Amino acid sequence: MDMAAQPILAVDGLRKSFRGLTALESVSLEVRRGEILGLMGPNGAGKSVFINVITGLYPSDGGAIRYCGRDVTALPSYVLARLGIARTYQNIRLLRRMTVLENVLVAIKDHASQPFRSLFVRNRSGGVAAAMALLEQFHLADKADRLAGTLAYGEARRLEIARALAGKPSLLFLDEPAAGMNERETEELAATIRTSHRLVEAIVIVEHDVAMMRGLSDRLVVMDSGRKIAEGNPADVLTQPNVVEAYLGTDGADD
Ligand SMILES: Nc1ncnc2c1ncn2[C@@H]1O[C@H](COP(=O)(O)OP(=O)(O)O)[C@@H](O)[C@H]1O
Ligand SMILES: [Mg+2]
Repeated sequence: MDMAAQPILAVDGLRKSFRGLTALESVSLEVRRGEILGLMGPNGAGKSVFINVITGLYPSDGGAIRYCGRDVTALPSYVLARLGIARTYQNIRLLRRMTVLENVLVAIKDHASQPFRSLFVRNRSGGVAAAMALLEQFHLADKADRLAGTLAYGEARRLEIARALAGKPSLLFLDEPAAGMNERETEELAATIRTSHRLVEAIVIVEHDVAMMRGLSDRLVVMDSGRKIAEGNPADVLTQPNVVEAYLGTDGADD
């Protein structure tokens, strides 16, 4: 098969339950090389569980995950990270008592512990230069020496993405990166994500902001109750009756 045509990620019939609660009911989807894939759906739809299973945080109950043509279904998260799958968390996870720069450096160092990468960051100064270049891109260079725990919310979100990119991943998952941001911060973040897109092969982004997702996503997948209910170009998907209904349905229920 032509390598360029092969999806970077192919998920087939992925299932996950928690004590009787079905969080993923046979979800299949592909992430294509070069794309930003938007993943939407009401709260509880299974979006985070999907990312958590793909990235090895939770074991799956069934189904197959292929990454770059290779079966990675039961691999632990640190192996998947080394293979080039990176992510951010819906709840920010930073090393709060380390500096902004150190947060990125640690991620570069983790990456460098792969034997074949050891030449790449053998000298520490090379690591610092690479980390500072990333911070520059994410408008955090002037905050390099601040403790991560003192950052404003939007800044912490940007640092999480910078850190995820420090390991030079091929596939990046962003779980609600704009959560808690105001409109201006959200617009800035969208621009940052477009920049990030040049550094990776594909991005999967979970977000509720419809305008942001319409503007950012090449394709959109919508989930509801652990199932994929729509897939396609954003304009079409967002007007599909079952998609509109899925959102209105939970707004009213407010659970
Ligand atoms: N670790 C867990 N243990 C038990 N239930 C979970 C766990 N993680 C998620 N769930 C449940 O799985 C369902 C899907 O959750 P989630 O993927 O977080 O939804 P969302 O689409 O909002 O990200 C929800 O009902 C949630 O309560
Ligand atoms: Mg979630």
